[in-house]
Amino acid sequence: MNYSSSENLFNFWWKGKEEAYKAAFNPEFVKSEKIAEYGNKGSKNIVLIGDSLLSLKLLLKNYENKVDLIYIDPPYNTGNSFNYNDKFKIRKDKSIKVNDKRYFNHSIWLNFIYPRLLLARLLLKDNGLIFVSIDDNEYHHLRMILDEIYGEANYVATLCWINNLKGRQIVGYGPAKTYEYIIVYAKNIKNIDTFKIDIEYLEKIDPLNKVYGSFKYKLMKDEHGYFVIKNQLYNSNSYFNEETRPNLVFNIHYNFNTGEIKFSEIYENIEYKDFIKIPPVKNNDGIHLFRAWRWSREKIIKERHNLLFINHNGIVKIYTKVRDIGKTLLKDIIFIPGNYGKKEISNILGFKMNDYPKPIELIKLILKIVSKDSLILDFFAGTGTTGHAVFELNKMDDGNRSFILIQSDEDVNDNNLKKLFPTIDKICIERLKNVCSKYGYGFVVFKVLKT
Ligand SMILES: C[S@@+](CC[C@H](N)C(=O)[O-])C[C@H]1O[C@@H](n2cnc3c(N)ncnc32)[C@H](O)[C@@H]1O
Repeated sequence: MNYSSSENLFNFWWKGKEEAYKAAFNPEFVKSEKIAEYGNKGSKNIVLIGDSLLSLKLLLKNYENKVDLIYIDPPYNTGNSFNYNDKFKIRKDKSIKVNDKRYFNHSIWLNFIYPRLLLARLLLKDNGLIFVSIDDNEYHHLRMILDEIYGEANYVATLCWINNLKGRQIVGYGPAKTYEYIIVYAKNIKNIDTFKIDIEYLEKIDPLNKVYGSFKYKLMKDEHGYFVIKNQLYNSNSYFNEETRPNLVFNIHYNFNTGEIKFSEIYENIEYKDFIKIPPVKNNDGIHLFRAWRWSREKIIKERHNLLFINHNGIVKIYTKVRDIGKTLLKDIIFIPGNYGKKEISNILGFKMNDYPKPIELIKLILKIVSKDSLILDFFAGTGTTGHAVFELNKMDDGNRSFILIQSDEDVNDNNLKKLFPTIDKICIERLKNVCSKYGYGFVVFKVLKT
């Protein structure tokens, strides 16, 4: 996406951007070696041990346009010194110092993430989605580069994940922090649907379910199945009236015995035998007489089975039946305690981590948005939460999702834990081994190497 047209001179630049771009598309000779297979043989689930940039290049050979959903939780720019393996190293003294004495070298972080995001997009299907976890330090920059790579029009949402309702104050000023972000982009916004989630599922995992739970309407049934009634047929917005929507303002005549429907114009004084006349609902805007109906005459006839006529002491109200009742829209605010991730690891592997892996339920919720046979990619897999979530969801709803996880063999920084698992990929594999033996799935592990 080019922002530098003459009318719209705008550019997001940082030191090293051109090299980072080149790094994405430099041909590199990469190969993979199968090193292990666990659980059921012949599984499509893959763990790649290696650098994510190299591994993404490798994946492009076979998985271009094949991935349904990417979730990543990249290393955040915490303001402490960090050093990624790429060639772009900018010395700390050139970085930006903020008033709490941390140094944010935004260029290093952007040079690290930019080429990976460029390649990731190519792996997505035309209706694919990418979800990126991030905190305040790079949220704004990440939005800029995602706008550049995916196109501004393909921005879907920023989910606010409340992970600690008590709040945590780490910088020494301002409010206590309760949430972080999950930025969502589509490969092509035209190909994606609304994010619908099973209400029953949502209620179980998200304590905000009282709000979701407000969808408690009386369940009814007719020959077409279950439904609830939420809204009447008239348009509650008084702007829609006989002047602005003349085609939608008319009398409806209803025969309660036969279910037949007829119409007449508002100025006609017509009654039909055995039919009750239902004039449009009165407008209260002080100017107009009536409110418009939400449906046209044609739609009313075609979908009469989706209307419910109720006679309240001689006044007939018309309701529209809502049949898609098992699902509700995912809200852009999610509450799942962040420390659940730690507990999940200690339940499976028996040790407490210093770091905060993501809670499985958070990832399951995201995966629930796409179909049950999706291919899911996570190229900063860490402890393998995304793989675990795929296994659990498949077990739960008999799904056929598969995953590709990428994780480098980065050293574990906790001295005690190091004795058990010297590198993070080993934690990931051990966790997945445990889960897949419990549920009867499998996965294959490859090492990614430069040739
Ligand atoms: C924030 S953690 C991800 C945690 C993960 N979501 C979980 O629930 O366990 C980021 C991970 O990215 C890994 N990582 C960092 N740089 C990498 C690279 N160049 N290639 C592959 N993995 C990398 C780190 O080792 C770390 O485990």
